[in-house]
Amino acid sequence: MKRVDDFRLRFGDKEYVPIMIGGMGVDISTSELALEAARLGGIGHISDAMVEDVSDRKFDTTFVKDKTKLYKYNIFNMDKAVVQFDLERLADAQRRHIGATMAAKKGPGLIFVNCMEKLTMNGPKETLRTRLNAALDAGIDGITLSAGLHFGSFALMADNPRFREAKLGIIVSSVRALQIFLRKNAKLDRAPDYVIVEGPLAGGHLGFGMDDWKNYDLHTIVAEVLEYLKGENLAIPVIAAGGVFTGGDAVSFLEAGAAGVQVATRFTVTKECGLPDKVKQEYYKASEEDIIVNGVSPTGYPMRMLKNTPAIGAGIRPGCESYGYLLDATGNCSYINAYNREVNVNGGSDKGISVMDKTCLCTHMRNFNCWTCGHYTYRLKDTTHKKEDGSYQLLTAEHVFKDYQFSTGNEVALPEKEA
Ligand SMILES: Cc1cc2nc3c(=O)[nH]c(=O)nc-3n(C[C@H](O)[C@H](O)[C@H](O)COP(=O)(O)O)c2cc1C
Repeated sequence: MKRVDDFRLRFGDKEYVPIMIGGMGVDISTSELALEAARLGGIGHISDAMVEDVSDRKFDTTFVKDKTKLYKYNIFNMDKAVVQFDLERLADAQRRHIGATMAAKKGPGLIFVNCMEKLTMNGPKETLRTRLNAALDAGIDGITLSAGLHFGSFALMADNPRFREAKLGIIVSSVRALQIFLRKNAKLDRAPDYVIVEGPLAGGHLGFGMDDWKNYDLHTIVAEVLEYLKGENLAIPVIAAGGVFTGGDAVSFLEAGAAGVQVATRFTVTKECGLPDKVKQEYYKASEEDIIVNGVSPTGYPMRMLKNTPAIGAGIRPGCESYGYLLDATGNCSYINAYNREVNVNGGSDKGISVMDKTCLCTHMRNFNCWTCGHYTYRLKDTTHKKEDGSYQLLTAEHVFKDYQFSTGNEVALPEKEA
């Protein structure tokens, strides 16, 4: 029986263990987690979601405090058009986060950054241009464009000296999205170096409709993408993502022609993952019925999360003066509208209100109060030991990585019991 280690992901003349750890914002896929993947010969993602806040926490910078102070006068105004990102500061935060990660890199693997394009930041094009170019300038090995892929993003980096050297990839959930991307970018003469095909069982935002994600299957979409690329004579590595829970699952995609797999959920309960330990225990405890897909994300995309996520129903004042990552080009966010509606119903006060249909994703992700997760989170408890106090033993990223790399079939290697 084959195992993942019998395969290699090739970029040019270089070979990697075909395991990518997916980007998990906000700082859930920490540098430490990504660095472990690189050390072990695979590919790790950090995320640039809310990078100014991430920088403040890691490097004692004061980006968020300064922005809050600058726009404090606007906190009670629900028109957020004035709340703009300072592009120089944004680039500075990005360079710090990525530069420090790259400086710490050891081993034969790679570090990529996940850039969600749905972070429209009250100026979609300019903020994205800044993020992408600062990432390249800071020496990132590769950039994965995700969530809300807008088809002109390669062009935003085309003048960067590293545009053709760094690995650039995209996440799609259908062959159609890939076709459109390739068509729109044809004149740049710069195809993606890899395509991640993310199916309906993934964590985070889903590239499917709220009710129809159940009708799709990752194997089928991967096969369609492979067939399309073959027909076009394009040798772009295809990475399968979403619900790949065991080494055996991964092998089934590699044998079907995928060049690698992207995995995330298994790593949410590792010591290197950025979630607080209490939240990791929530992931372990979850049963299948506790995992839901809902529409509370202001991005408009369905999102998978634990049912007891504190972010659901919270009625907090929008935190755009401090964060504002989901403000669209006109300074609006659907959470602001939902919040205003409830305040009006409550006679103009936000005391005790609950907003059920949308959530203030920036604030809640920042505080690790939006517990997004993959469909198979309920199987995490089977990957470790339950301790006498009822809690579950955390894993190391190395253990999970090697389990994917070396286990066969549906086997999951348990860790050594901690004393
Ligand atoms: C906690 C969590 C957060 C995630 N956040 C992001 C994100 O910020 N951007 C993104 O493109 N994908 C995100 N994802 C999706 C993963 O990168 C990955 O593609 C997917 O979850 C793989 O499926 P699996 O979790 O079943 O292994 C997230 C997944 C999880 C579990």
